[in-house]
Order: sequence, then structure tokens, then C-alpha cells
Amino acid sequence: MSTQLTDLLKIKHPIIMAPMFLVSNTAMVIEGMKSGIAGCIPALNYRTLDELRVSINELKAAKVSGGAFGYNLIVNKSNIKYKEQLRVICEEGCDFILTSLGNPEETIREAHAVGIKVFCDVTDLHFAKKVEQLGADAAVAVNSEAGGHRGNLSPQELTSLLHKELNIPVISAGGVGCKADINTMLSYGAAGVSVGSPFIASIEAGVTDDYKQACVDYGADDIVMTERISGTPCTVINTPYVQKIGTKSTGLEKLLNKNKTLKKWVKMIRFYIGMKTTEKAALQATYKTVWVAGPSIEHTKAILPTREIVENLTN
Ligand SMILES: Cc1cc2nc3c(=O)[nH]c(=O)nc-3n(C[C@H](O)[C@H](O)[C@H](O)COP(=O)(O)O)c2cc1C
Repeated sequence: MSTQLTDLLKIKHPIIMAPMFLVSNTAMVIEGMKSGIAGCIPALNYRTLDELRVSINELKAAKVSGGAFGYNLIVNKSNIKYKEQLRVICEEGCDFILTSLGNPEETIREAHAVGIKVFCDVTDLHFAKKVEQLGADAAVAVNSEAGGHRGNLSPQELTSLLHKELNIPVISAGGVGCKADINTMLSYGAAGVSVGSPFIASIEAGVTDDYKQACVDYGADDIVMTERISGTPCTVINTPYVQKIGTKSTGLEKLLNKNKTLKKWVKMIRFYIGMKTTEKAALQATYKTVWVAGPSIEHTKAILPTREIVENLTN
């Protein structure tokens, strides 16, 4: 199938395996590339710059015709490693960088100077226009069906709007679990799709089998938004633990947030505790089952090799 995305990245299918904090790894991306799609890993999945460098070189060595790989960079102040991660990625090279949160201007400038394409996460027209004007190669339209920090507009509304108003390709992110979903997004004007949640239950993913099995056992109706992880609403599986702790910020947090000086610290502490809880839930056996996933796990019926997940999306 030929679309603007397959042409941009020289891939067989118009699919990016979306970056997922704690979940994405090189084994998944290598299998994705062999299956003719692009894969993307959050730079934050690596604790050190050396680990990031090793990952890039592993993917460069494993790259095959019909596949492509890139890295996700959080470009706002919350990512204190941003500048160094950008430097390492530009030094080593990859096919694309996917930016999220914040102004991508510097990333676009630095990446373009070394021939790396830049795609930017957007959730509305205003920001999409901005990244287009800054020179982004494509806009990743994160819609209200996406896993993680989702957008507010429905897949149809957001994709059609951006397709109509932008001159750069629009990649639809959120809610894609099967081939029919991909065709629907393409019919709205998308040049391709970015798919995350369906790859959590892949053999290659480095998360616990309990997390993968939860993506099989639970469905779209079991996804809820919670503020209890990072303070910013995020989609999680409504496990008994999530039900027990509730999905709203606590009264104490709300009270502390009203104080200007304390607000910053409360936010940072909440973010840190939330990230530690999610990390534990993803990587170790724990009763604190806070598992990030989106409604597209509805189509996940078994833990499968990445290759088969791609086959299910493309056949
Ligand atoms: C477990 C999980 C972790 C995620 N981590 C990130 C991340 O680190 N950076 C990012 O830009 N998006 C992240 N996302 C969002 C995905 O990149 C993508 O936009 C989303 O998964 C698309 O929706 P889908 O899950 O329905 O396919 C994450 C999503 C999930 C489900």
C-alpha cells in the first residue's frame, strides 16, 4: 500500500509502532521493521545516554528494506535529559524523531540538519498549524481514543480537520486495533496510523506477563482516565486496585495545588510517585496494578509475536 507515510519512510505498510514509555524496546522495533512497518522508542526508556546510543546502533544494524525506526523525545522542561538525548540521536542518526509535549523548534532544526525527519504529536489545529510552520514533516494527530495522554477530539473529527487544514501528512494516533480501523483512518485523510496499545501484549515487550494478559482479558469498556498517576489525565485499565484508589486527585493535593509556591512541588512529587508506581506495575509483580493502555486493546485476543500483531493489522 502506498501513502504519503510509506513514501516518507520507505516502509511497506503505513503504520508506526507508537512509542510507549517502559513498554517499547529494540526487539519489538526490529520485528516491526522486518514486518514492513516503522517502530519508535521513547528516548526516556533509556536511563543513560550510552544505553540510548547502543539502542540506536542496534537498530541501525538491524534495519531492513521496508522498515524504519525512530525515537520519541519529550521536548518540554519535564525532560531534563532532552538536549543530550537530541544530541546523541543526531550524532548516531535514525529515520525520524517523534516529538511530544512542548515546542519542537530546536528538534526540527537540529534533526533536519542531519537528515532526520521530525513528526510532532498534536491534539488540536492551533498546535498542528504551529508545527507545520516550524517545518515538521508530519503531524501525529493524537485523538480521544488514544492510550496514554489522549487528546479531546474524536479520530474522525481530528484527522479530517487536520487533513483539510494542513499541507503536511497527518498520522492518526489512537483507537486502531485492526485493518478496518486503519482503512477508516485513511478514509478520513490520514497518511498512516500510529499504533501503541495493541503491541503491549507482544511476546517481545519487556513488561510483565500479568500486564500483557490484562490487555487480553480486559476490553475497551474497562479503560478509564486517571489523574492519580502523573497528575495529567492518563488512560489505564480499571483493575480492582485502580478502583480502590480512585481516579481523581486527592482532596489534599487539590488543596495544596491552590498554593502557588507549593503547587510546583506537589506536581513534581506527584509525577515522581506516579512514575514509580507505573514502572513497578509494568516491570514487577505487584498488587498495585496501574497498567497504562487504551481502548484499542479490545482487539487483543492473545499474547502474540510482534510479527503476528502486524499481520493482524494488515490482513
Ligand atoms: C503504555 C503506553 C505508554 C505510552 N508512552 C508514550 C510516551 O512515552 N511518549 C509518547 O509520546 N506517547 C506515549 N504513548 C502514546 C502512544 O505513543 C500513542 O500515541 C498511543 O498509544 C496511540 O493510541 P493506541 O494506544 O490506541 O494505539 C503511550 C501509550 C501507551 C498505551
